[in-house]
Amino acid sequence: MTSIAITDIGSLVTADSTLGDGALGIRANAAMIVVDGKVEWVGDNASAPDADRNVSVHGKTVIPGFVDSHAHLVFAGERGFEFEARMNGQQYSAGGIRTTVEATRAASDDVLRSNMARLVAEMHASGITTFESKSGYGLDVENESRSLRIAQQFTRETTFLGAHVVPSEFTGRADEYVSLVNGEMLRAAAPHAKWIDVFCDSGAFDVDQARAVLQAGIAAGLAPRIHANQLADIGAVALAVELDCASADHLSHLSEADVAALAGSNTVATLLPGAEFSTRSAYPDASRLLTAGATVAIATDCNPGSSYTTSLPFCIAVAVRDMGFSPEQALLAATRGGAAALRRTDIGALSLGMRADFAVLNAPSYIHLSFRPGVDLIDSTWVAGQNVYQR
Ligand code: NIG
Ligand code: FE
Repeated sequence: MTSIAITDIGSLVTADSTLGDGALGIRANAAMIVVDGKVEWVGDNASAPDADRNVSVHGKTVIPGFVDSHAHLVFAGERGFEFEARMNGQQYSAGGIRTTVEATRAASDDVLRSNMARLVAEMHASGITTFESKSGYGLDVENESRSLRIAQQFTRETTFLGAHVVPSEFTGRADEYVSLVNGEMLRAAAPHAKWIDVFCDSGAFDVDQARAVLQAGIAAGLAPRIHANQLADIGAVALAVELDCASADHLSHLSEADVAALAGSNTVATLLPGAEFSTRSAYPDASRLLTAGATVAIATDCNPGSSYTTSLPFCIAVAVRDMGFSPEQALLAATRGGAAALRRTDIGALSLGMRADFAVLNAPSYIHLSFRPGVDLIDSTWVAGQNVYQR
C-alpha cells in the first residue's frame, strides 16, 4: 500500500458537492490523500494525515482530470489544406474522411501507433486523464480491427466506427457496405471494442442504416453511442434515445423535441466545440439542454479533419464564450459529464474511492480555464495517483 499526500492546494475542485462548496465542491487551502491510486481523504491542509510521500502544489488549483469521451486518434495523413479551404469559404462535408482512410490504410502499425502516442501525450499535457478513441479510418475488415487493436494499447474506451462513411470502393452500394459492417467487420472488431458508433448524418448514414448498425453492435455485446445531427437534423437524436445510447454527440442541429427527449433519457448530450470552431459552423446552445435537465458533456472530437485539437481547456473556453455554458457548467461537463457519457462511475470527480485522476492548474481558480484562453495552465497531470505529465 502506498500513499501520497497532495498538499498546499490553493483551490481544490472535487466536482463532488458533498465535499466542498457549490456544485463543484470547492475547498480552499486543501489537501488530498491518495492510497493505491484512489482518493482516500480530502480536507483542510492543516489537518492532512501523514503519507509515504508528500507533493506540495504550492497554492495552485487542483481539478479532476478531464474525461474526453469522444476522439478519433487512429489515423495517418494530413488535411490542413481542407481547413484552409474552409476558412476561405468552402463548406465542411463528411467526404473528407475518405482522404484520411486512404492514408490510414497505407500506414504501418508503427506509424499509427506513434501518431496516437503523440496525441495521447498532448492529451495528458492538456489535463485529460481518460479518453475514448474510435476506429473509422480503416473502413475494411483488416484496417478497422487493426485500428482498434492499436487504440486498445492506449485506452479501454475503444469504439468501433466502421460506419463512419461509405468508402469509395462501395460508392452507390451503401446497403452492401452496411451489411459488411454488421457482419464480418463487426466480428473482427468486437473483441477489441467496448462501444459501437455510427455517423448518422447527411452524407453519411441515414437513421435506418444507423439503427441496423447499432443493433448489430448491441447484439455483439457492444454498447451504443452515436454521431448525431452534426450537419443536419435527420432524426438521429430520437434514434439515440430509442436505443438508450450512452451519448449522442455533436448536436449542432437540435429541435425542441430533441432537447426534451435527451432531458428525459439516460443519453448524455455531448457537445464538441472544436468541431464547430474548425468547420466555422453555428454553435449549439448548451443552455437549452442544461435548462431542460439533460446531462451534458464536452469532448475534443480530436480527429484529422473537423477538430484537430487535443486541448480540453480550449474546448471549455469556446464552450463558455460561445455555447452558453457558465465556467462551472463547462468544467462539470468536461469531467462528470464525460464520465457519464462513458457510463463510468469511478472517474470524473475527486470523490472518496474514485480513481485519483487530477490536473494541477497554474492558476488561482478553475475559472482561468476560460478566462485565460490559449494559455497553457496545466502544471501536471496524474492518472490513478501517477504523474503522467509534468510541465
Ligand atoms: O466527429 N463527424 C464525423 N466524424 C468526425 C470527422 C471526421 C473527419 O472529418 O475526418 C467528427 O467530426
Ligand atoms: Fe467524431
